[in-house]
Amino acid sequence: MFKKPISHKAAQFTESVIREMTRLAMEHNAINLSQGFPDFAAPDVLKKAAADAIFADVNQYAITWGAKNFRDALVYKTKKYLGIDIDPEREITVSCGSTEAMIDVLLAVINGGDEVIVFEPFYENYGPDAIISGATPRYVQLRRPDWSFDEKELAAAFNNKTKAIIINTPNNPTGKVFSREELRVIGNLCQKWDVLAITDEIYEHIIYDGAQHVSPITLDGMRERTIVVNGMSKTYSVTGWRVGYIIAPPGITGAIRKMHDFVTVGAPAPLQEAGAVALRLPDTYYIDLASHYQQRRDRLMKMLGEAGLNPMLPKGAYYIMCDIAKWGYPNDVEFTKFMVKEVGVATVPGSSFFSDPAAGKDIIRFTFCKKEETLRAAEERLRKLQIVLAQS
Ligand SMILES: Cc1ncc(COP(=O)(O)O)c(C=O)c1O
Repeated sequence: MFKKPISHKAAQFTESVIREMTRLAMEHNAINLSQGFPDFAAPDVLKKAAADAIFADVNQYAITWGAKNFRDALVYKTKKYLGIDIDPEREITVSCGSTEAMIDVLLAVINGGDEVIVFEPFYENYGPDAIISGATPRYVQLRRPDWSFDEKELAAAFNNKTKAIIINTPNNPTGKVFSREELRVIGNLCQKWDVLAITDEIYEHIIYDGAQHVSPITLDGMRERTIVVNGMSKTYSVTGWRVGYIIAPPGITGAIRKMHDFVTVGAPAPLQEAGAVALRLPDTYYIDLASHYQQRRDRLMKMLGEAGLNPMLPKGAYYIMCDIAKWGYPNDVEFTKFMVKEVGVATVPGSSFFSDPAAGKDIIRFTFCKKEETLRAAEERLRKLQIVLAQS
């Protein structure tokens, strides 16, 4: 038997709690409102473009940093929506989803001893990303009810060792959309301490009630120190296609491309061709996307409210956090297990979004990127929640 220890890095984190919930949902035949993948069809125009590309024999490696068509379409979309010009030859890297994008970026910029500031609750990948890249995470709290941060607490997290801050707006899991003023505060600190802003903008078009997505790259003085991480998964309902991208200043892009080359070589070639079509879709596509999600959000908010789960209204992304404190369960993990086994609805325990699990023990997260019939089935099951809880 092999007796030497496995990697110390691998020993420091667990498998994804969210993806584990999806496995549990399948095991218990539960309605899966845990993992954020749509269960409805992707747009026909994209499926056709992907099929066309395969039949046109776009079946071999694309250029490692991204197919030209995709990069050109990204230049077009970035100009249109963010109002900035990017150089397709020197500032773009196409990756296997924004998940690979984030780790490529950290591998490219982090040295031992560097610190990275992460807002919490956070998207669960950022913790392992920091460990894998060798960064020391420093957490700054987003506080309820509006998930704002304390400027003094944030300022105190910056020091000479700080290499980067990760910003996720619109935010998973809270649904917070960072305001221009908040981003200015962050940007000023980045400039003061010579720090990079790494911004995960995967939910940029999923935004409600007239809120506006502001990308930190558009703020004065931030163009040269912002790295945008994004992808097709959420905007085009194709989480399984694994196409993401990074926009970064040329010097940093060189390092990112090297990491990307040796991690995955390249993103799926035919799906990048379909991506080029996606990135040129008209404005109406994004307006419809946001409005459909807003209807689903309102539907799930009502359902959760009626079930006594104290939902918190998100301004963006497609998750709803609920406060379960009043139910008196020992913690969120016990509650989510009870939900999946006894009620038949899978959700995510809040502790998976915090460095200290105790901070999330009263919270669970639902997603609403699901078909009406999935939400209706969940509604029926949630109706029995109060009865089952009373009996348990
Ligand atoms: C904030 C955030 N970033 C990144 C991802 C993963 O995106 P991709 O499918 O592009 O790897 C997710 C998926 O849930 C997410 O919520």
